[in-house]
Amino acid sequence: MGFAVSIDGRVGSPEEVTLKVTDNGFVFGDSGYETLRTYGGRPFELDRHLSRLRRTIRLLGFDLPIADDEIKARIDACLSFAGNAESYLRVIVSRGVGDMSYRFERMGAPTMAIYVKPLEPYDPALYEKGAAVVIVSIRRNPIEALNPAMKASNLLNNALASREAYQKGAFEAILLNTRGEVAEAAGSNIFMVKGGRLQTPPLSAGILEGITRQITLEIAAATGVVFEERVLHPQDLRSADEVFLTSSLKEIAPVTTLDGAPVGDGKPGPVTKQLLAAYRARIQGD
Ligand SMILES: Cc1ncc(COP(=O)(O)O)c(C=O)c1O
Repeated sequence: MGFAVSIDGRVGSPEEVTLKVTDNGFVFGDSGYETLRTYGGRPFELDRHLSRLRRTIRLLGFDLPIADDEIKARIDACLSFAGNAESYLRVIVSRGVGDMSYRFERMGAPTMAIYVKPLEPYDPALYEKGAAVVIVSIRRNPIEALNPAMKASNLLNNALASREAYQKGAFEAILLNTRGEVAEAAGSNIFMVKGGRLQTPPLSAGILEGITRQITLEIAAATGVVFEERVLHPQDLRSADEVFLTSSLKEIAPVTTLDGAPVGDGKPGPVTKQLLAAYRARIQGD
């Protein structure tokens, strides 16, 4: 079981395969990324992750001259080198090696770093008991400043929000946008259920279009769960019957306390459980 990296196709341990310190990814956080996991040793929903990675890179304003097949081959090489039963996988593409300036015309080709490490699954108690979340004081970056639709590795907004939540003993931070509407969590999208109706903030709230969010909405549509994307306020979450988080690593994780108060009856709710079961059935199917 191990940690493997691939930098521009060179595969090895993190000690052997290293980045140049003048890479814009390190100097400016000038890069896009994807985080995913394997099931049965294979990356889940890799095509959707690669297409979102290309979307992020387009928004960052550079090209990625590497075909999906080549990226997949590099991921496979990294997974084989690591030899884990299940892996956490991150792909980062930076604008490339620079000269500590914003002179982008001086940059070479983008750098692609792939990281594979053993998956550390969440404690099953997360799904049985649910998580505690808090609404933090830090607001989500406005679309006009650093669009959250880009999965950019400049993650200070998310990291500082997480830090605030952890200091309060919570599992995840919920961020509002600068209008005071519910946006998303530091590393997840958020959903709520009220009167059997599934609700989640629209993309216009300034959020990442999560792949697990997309799949959750597809499952809801396929299984007859009524859902809507609508602007949510903190009060909506406080009066919800159920709240849950979605992400590639957390899957569908129930939230049972918000700012220290129980959500609904303080237990994972029936719609959350139904969607989680359907999500896991879909993984089996794939
Ligand atoms: C800010 C943010 N929102 C949402 C998500 C969930 O996205 P996905 O379901 O594609 O993993 C993540 C995942 O890391 C995230 O960082």
